[in-house]
Amino acid sequence: MPEDAVSPDSLSALAEAAIAIRPMAHAPYSNFFVGAAVLDEKGEIHTGVNVENAAYPNGICAETAAIAAMVASGARRIRAIAVVGGGEGLCTPCGGCRQRIREFSIAETPIAIAGPEGIRKLMTLGELLPESFGPENLS
Ligand code: THU
Repeated sequence: MPEDAVSPDSLSALAEAAIAIRPMAHAPYSNFFVGAAVLDEKGEIHTGVNVENAAYPNGICAETAAIAAMVASGARRIRAIAVVGGGEGLCTPCGGCRQRIREFSIAETPIAIAGPEGIRKLMTLGELLPESFGPENLS
């Protein structure tokens, strides 16, 4: 059975949660602060920020941090996710994060790409990661 659509108000609230947490990012090397917020199957919101490291490849993205917080809470579904970065462009999830989102979502899962002022573009996981490989492919 398909999941119920997430309301525009819920997506806005999710983007606001990502915007609120973004200043907590540890991004002294790129100075590119990112916040993310995940809405789970219980209606709870989990947030995360990018956490960079002096040994550069060990940094993690905001989406990864938010997903880890969701999983640690016991939730296993991403109903929607919001990501906020700075600058003029769209802070779309990197390739690795698209796959991490995929683990807990479906093609229709909304991904709100935001800037500090609010949502800039709404996309779906299927648009960002078409023909993806997920848990069902293993069964
Ligand atoms: N980054 C994220 O946290 N999420 C994204 O969607 C794109 C990039 C982070 C990784 C790194 O700390 C900084 O932004 C610059 O790439």
